[in-house]
Formats: sequence, structure tokens, C-alpha cells
Amino acid sequence: MSKLAIDVKGLRKKFGSHVVLNGIDISVPVGTVYALLGPNGAGKTTLIHILSTLVAPDEGSVKVAGYDVVSEKNKVKQSISLTGQFAAVDEMLTSEENLQMICRLSGLTIAESRTRTDELLKHFDLTAAAKKLVKTYSGGMRRRLDLAISLVVSRPVLFLDEPTTGLDTISRRALWEIILQLKAQGITIFLTTQYLEEADQLADRIAVINGGHVVASGTANDLKSKLGGEVIELHNSNEELIGTVSTTGTIHDIRLSLNELALKYPQETRVSIRKPSLDDVFLLLTSKKLEESLS
Ligand SMILES: Nc1ncnc2c1ncn2[C@@H]1O[C@H](COP(=O)(O)OP(=O)(O)O)[C@@H](O)[C@H]1O
Ligand SMILES: [Mg+2]
Repeated sequence: MSKLAIDVKGLRKKFGSHVVLNGIDISVPVGTVYALLGPNGAGKTTLIHILSTLVAPDEGSVKVAGYDVVSEKNKVKQSISLTGQFAAVDEMLTSEENLQMICRLSGLTIAESRTRTDELLKHFDLTAAAKKLVKTYSGGMRRRLDLAISLVVSRPVLFLDEPTTGLDTISRRALWEIILQLKAQGITIFLTTQYLEEADQLADRIAVINGGHVVASGTANDLKSKLGGEVIELHNSNEELIGTVSTTGTIHDIRLSLNELALKYPQETRVSIRKPSLDDVFLLLTSKKLEESLS
């Protein structure tokens, strides 16, 4: 068995009477990317805060880089970097000044701070903007600076809370590239996201949390195959999607479905058959739980 960078067993956390995490088990092998998916309020940030020692767990065992987040808090802190959901940069400074300040606070000398700052500015494509105030930056530039700041000192485990929320496609892809480069350096990355495509593209393993529990986990393909068969999609002559039907994937079931659909839809309807997407899985998992908790 490979070594675990993150090992969570039976984690529970409530705020007042509100149970947010109700028995979570997660294990993340060293050097992999793990994506945590879940609707707003599912407890993703709370879990990242517990893993990064900012919030104490109520119950369960939580180990990061082999250390216990409660009894070996300082060892955990020395093993991790965190980029939070909301930016923590000084807007009235330039990116160069922000980075140099964090370098100095992390104990680097003035000369080392200059070298490290230049390296990071270059790596995160911020050299041209290095002397501009952060308040003039785009969302993508700020996110890159956030990440650069959390990587001033290289640590084995990196937490990213919704790293690409609100970014445009180009900035998002640029960040994905950076995340994959960090993985190639052997860093373990634990990220939360609302984007299924992001989990699909980046993560070796995915967990979906909802209602305080991990409702599904595995590779993107594991999750997709949970839905079983194929999905039939129907498009009208303008290529607009007008219906989807899940099938078991057997020829018998697909033929029955198509016979039924042929009675309901006009003759010119176009039919395609595809594998389930992560979106299908996510919708199924989160809507089912919602119904259960409402009933
Ligand atoms: N410090 C806190 N005190 C009370 N409630 C909190 C606190 N932090 C988070 N919560 C609640 O816990 C739930 C999960 O929040 P959060 O972990 O931020 O979810 P997510 O990141 O998945 O959107 C929410 O209902 C939120 O209001
Ligand atoms: Mg959050």
C-alpha cells in the first residue's frame, strides 16, 4: 500500500447543533491530486480548515503528512501550504512587494527573497505586472498570485479551496497547468471545486460530499460507471438538446427506450448514445440525498 498524505477516519464536526461533517473517511496517497466536490454549504471549506489545523475536529482521526492535526499541529503546519477560498493579498501593494514580504516573513534573507520572488513571478506569469498594484489585477492574476504566495516555501501537501471559482476558461486552464506541474514535482494536492470538469481533468481520485457524508468516491471513471449504462440524448433539427434518458446499456434496454421515444418525439429527432458524464453522476447523487433529507 502506498503512503498516505491525508488519512481521515470517522471525522465529525458540528457548529452549535448544525452537524456539518457526520463521519467522513478519506485517504489520499502521496503525490496524487484529490478533488472534493459538493454543493454550497456541504462542508468543503470546513474540511480544508480541519486538515490545515485552522479548525479542530470534534471526533475522528485526522492525519496529514503522517501527523495528527490535533496532537501534532505544528508538524502539520510545517508540512502544508494553503490557498484559501478568499484571497489574502494586500491590494495596495504590488505582487512583487506582496511576495517579498511573505518571503521575509518566512525567514528568507533579503537576497534570497529577491531570487525567490523573481522565480515565482516568472513561474506564475506575473513578471510583466510585478510592479503594478494588485488592486488593478484581473481575477486570474490574483488567483495566480495567491497560489504563488502559498508556494513561497515548498511543502509536501497543498490545499486549494475552490482555486478557479469565478475565473474565465483561459485563466482556469492556466491554473490547471500549474497544478499539474506541482503534482509532477511530487506535491500532494487536495482541492475543492464546484466544477466537475476540473475534477475530471485534474484529479486522480474524487469524493463527493453531501449531507455530512461522502456519498461517492473513486476515480472519475469509477463514478461515471456507477450510473451503469449509456445515456440516450435527443436533439431537435436545430441541434438543441430536448431530452436525455438513462439506460442500463444493454441492447434490450436501449431498444425498448428507443421504441418508446420514437412514439413521443418527431421523426426528424436526432439520437445519440454516450457514456454518463460526471455531471450526470453529481446531479444524481446530490439530488437524491436532498430528497432523502427533505422526506
Ligand atoms: N465557524 C462557523 N460557525 C458556524 N457555522 C459554520 C462555520 N463555518 C461554517 N459553518 C457552516 O457550515 C456549513 C458548511 O460550510 P462550508 O464548510 O463553508 O461549506 P462549503 O465550503 O462546502 O460551501 C455551512 O452551513 C456554514 O454556514
Ligand atoms: Mg467553501
